[in-house]
Amino acid sequence: MASSFNKNCLDDKIALITGGGSGICYEIANTFLKYGATVYILSRNKEKLLRAEMELNKGLSSQRCFSIPADVRKFDQINDAVDIILKKSGKLDILINGAAGNFLCPISQLSYNAFKTVMEIDAHGTFIVSQICFNKWFENNGGVIIHISMTLHYTGTMLQLHAGAAKAAIDAMTKHMAVEFGPYNVRVNGIAPGPIEGTVGLSRLGGFDESYLDKMREMIPLRRMGSAEDVANTALFLCISEAKYITGSTIVVDGGHWLTSSSSILNISKI
Ligand code: COA
Repeated sequence: MASSFNKNCLDDKIALITGGGSGICYEIANTFLKYGATVYILSRNKEKLLRAEMELNKGLSSQRCFSIPADVRKFDQINDAVDIILKKSGKLDILINGAAGNFLCPISQLSYNAFKTVMEIDAHGTFIVSQICFNKWFENNGGVIIHISMTLHYTGTMLQLHAGAAKAAIDAMTKHMAVEFGPYNVRVNGIAPGPIEGTVGLSRLGGFDESYLDKMREMIPLRRMGSAEDVANTALFLCISEAKYITGSTIVVDGGHWLTSSSSILNISKI
């Protein structure tokens, strides 16, 4: 299907995408490149990141995707990463906070370190990267920030206390940042994807059990799993000028899934 977006709508835009080496954020990077942006993908795994960088640059007339290995939990590494971007590209227009970690675990067996690790990657990481980008660039130049959230904390989903707590914190940050950064022409929004086909998230949380996935599809009002492209197109929309009055919102991209899902929907046999 032909896209309704103008193919040059992100021309000259510079984007930093944490977690851009795989999954949904890889597809966001791919989409942003397709519409003209220069993209910096950042995550911990150097090899994965380099493979993604190579793949994403394929077919482009010049290199527009660059990888920066760094850990969103490490203030100094992110500080250096943003300096590299500003030195190389001279500006930063868009930040996507997508780096995340997750697994299934009952509360009774969740170690404090496991809880802390997910909180630190998802919530602290979102804070650290956003604050550094704001202080170094957005405060004086405006920009767009998008946090990748989820819907599992809307219903208190089983085995997901750590991720739900972290994403609830991120949803709160979306609002707080929208309020404080708005006067600096910085829009801050979230995207909460539902079950997205082909992602580590779905395979970890749902497993590859086809009958379970079929059951899940039947529960989704739009009767299909989402695609990474569904999420990437939402991110693209939030970045273009047609979305210029949207801030402080978290847009659910789940085909209506959370409205009909129960907290016991996760595939407990998988743990
Ligand atoms: N169940 C329960 N606890 C787990 C776990 C699981 N499946 N996986 C990790 N943990 C615990 C570890 O046991 C450890 O706690 P402990 O010290 O009490 O034993 C703690 O979490 C930290 O684990 P570690 O592997 O040292 O942290 P890390 O920073 O290297 O890894 C994770 C981060 C935990 C998120 C890891 O699962 C990961 O890297 N996942 C890949 C990315 C991903 O999950 N993407 C999700 C997309 S939704």
